[in-house]
Amino acid sequence: MVLHEVSEDFPLISKVNYLSTASIGLIPIPVIETVKGFIYELAQEGTLFLNEDREYRIYDDLRREGAKLLGCDEEDIAVFNSVTEALNCIAWSLELKEGKIISTDIEFPTVTYPWLRIARKENIKVKFVNAKNWYIPPDDLLNEIDENTKVVVLSHVEYLTGQRHDIKRIVKRAHEVNALVIVDGVQAAGYIPLNVKELNVDVYITGSYKWLVAPFGAAIAYISKDLYSRLEPVFVGWRSKEYMWDLNPLELSYSSTARKFEYSTSSYSVKIGLAESIKYLRRIGIEKIYEHNMKLTDIAVEELNSIKYVNLVTPLNMDERGSIVTFWVERIDPFKIVNKLRHLNRPIELTIRRNMIRISPHIYNTEEDILHFVDSLRRFVYGGF
Ligand SMILES: Cc1ncc(COP(=O)(O)O)c(C=O)c1O
Repeated sequence: MVLHEVSEDFPLISKVNYLSTASIGLIPIPVIETVKGFIYELAQEGTLFLNEDREYRIYDDLRREGAKLLGCDEEDIAVFNSVTEALNCIAWSLELKEGKIISTDIEFPTVTYPWLRIARKENIKVKFVNAKNWYIPPDDLLNEIDENTKVVVLSHVEYLTGQRHDIKRIVKRAHEVNALVIVDGVQAAGYIPLNVKELNVDVYITGSYKWLVAPFGAAIAYISKDLYSRLEPVFVGWRSKEYMWDLNPLELSYSSTARKFEYSTSSYSVKIGLAESIKYLRRIGIEKIYEHNMKLTDIAVEELNSIKYVNLVTPLNMDERGSIVTFWVERIDPFKIVNKLRHLNRPIELTIRRNMIRISPHIYNTEEDILHFVDSLRRFVYGGF
């Protein structure tokens, strides 16, 4: 299957076999136009364009689209500038004093650092479940959850290996001991159909510039009503209030919704861009994108498995992976491979993470892209060029 309808929106793909969305997604032209249009009008017209009411409502469209993407109410969405910012803001607001935080030893650093930082100050321990050959055995994680556990924090899909965790199962066990589950969904949202209510997670965060095909500088977090209603934000500012334009400096109160975590002006154009890109993806259909991406990764897994010296670290089972496939090749420096493939007539753009090669196809890729990549790799590994 080729997603014909999008190819014109991504001019690069006629020249380059781009397989690096888990690093940075390409942005479709309609989204670029929306962001540019906002910046241009604001620059030219100031408050004539961005009047007070419009500025007050500036994130409404993003919250609405975010809620549709994640399967929750608009009021459960808070807008941030990055996944890292969202996670830090939420982590500190929990005001943990003691107990255990569970994550894994192959996580993206953003997921673990806030807790390591809090652990320097408070009596909390961060327990890392160990990967075995780059795989986190689900039962090892579940067995680690006990009465002392306060938070389980992990990616829905691992940035490095593409392993997809069974969030529902983790939540079920965590809630038995009143522990929270906080999920970094930046490598999942945009191609995996999501319903945070069904997953029953406490927090689900995702960001703009990968699978959601928007610029840097925007993230959204679902925070359950039960949780945000009892948290006090750590960062506060004029936008923290129910109605920011009352501008009363003497009294600090918060919005009654998750937007209490929003505190300042920001790069509004990118927030508008993210709302537009979510609309763009939802017009194609997240289910359809999921089928497309999983079919491409399926081909990649099967073909890579047939190349001697290539070792996959991504789980083979479809339910346990996302649109990321990672491998290493015996006796060959990954930088050599990536450089070689980057200089073909049709260059292939790949990512190296922790000395392994990662591919991450999205809506703008085709089966031909995957076959072009595996055939080129095969030729290189077997000494063909
Ligand atoms: C799992 C994961 N979380 C967070 C980030 C970074 O998010 P941000 O740049 O929005 O802070 C990345 C970036 O690669 C990632 O892979």
